[in-house]
Amino acid sequence: MVLPEDPKYALKKVDEIREMVDNDLGFQQAPLMCYSRTKTLLFISNDKKVVGCLIAEHIQWGYRVIEEKLPVIRSEEEKVRFERQKAWCCSTLPEPAICGISRIWVFSMMRRKKIASRMIECLRSNFIYGSYLSKEEIAFSDPTPDGKLFATQYCGTGQFLVYNFINGQNNT
Ligand code: COA
Repeated sequence: MVLPEDPKYALKKVDEIREMVDNDLGFQQAPLMCYSRTKTLLFISNDKKVVGCLIAEHIQWGYRVIEEKLPVIRSEEEKVRFERQKAWCCSTLPEPAICGISRIWVFSMMRRKKIASRMIECLRSNFIYGSYLSKEEIAFSDPTPDGKLFATQYCGTGQFLVYNFINGQNNT
């Protein structure tokens, strides 16, 4: 975990990784609310490569995704295809939240190995000293289709919290 007060070389490295992640995401990310309050988790492989990155920030409010009724879907593949195509909506009612996941990224060749899940587990125990965040206290920034599939599985519901949606006015 890299914290804002860490040495400059570490912050510089985090900045490089964040740039690479933003390029990989391929769309404009909402700016971080306050750099001095972010916590960055890096997942380092045995061969000392950064294969995962999670940037978290303090937030106050999240907005619940409104789950759409799914058409009758037979296979997992169909579900993923549907999820990638559809637009999503969220409630305008703010709900208290503590931790915003601004970015979460895993190197493409290493996906579906629970690296993102492990980074969030680690975040939940380290974001606030001495407490373990519940899934209800975490929100995802403007999730991508992959992010949405992941968050739905991790949170155990499609009605997880989001914040910072680029086109919305609800920047917290
Ligand atoms: N399609 C369908 N289900 C997915 C999924 C996907 N692309 N990614 C994760 N899940 C679900 C699965 O149920 C998975 O469990 P399983 O592999 O046993 O079926 C579960 O979430 C846990 O996934 P995990 O292995 O912990 O996630 P990951 O390490 O592969 O990382 C992302 C997930 C989203 C971080 C990764 O796909 C990624 O970096 N994508 C590109 C960047 C991005 O879009 N980030 C999200 C920004 S909000």
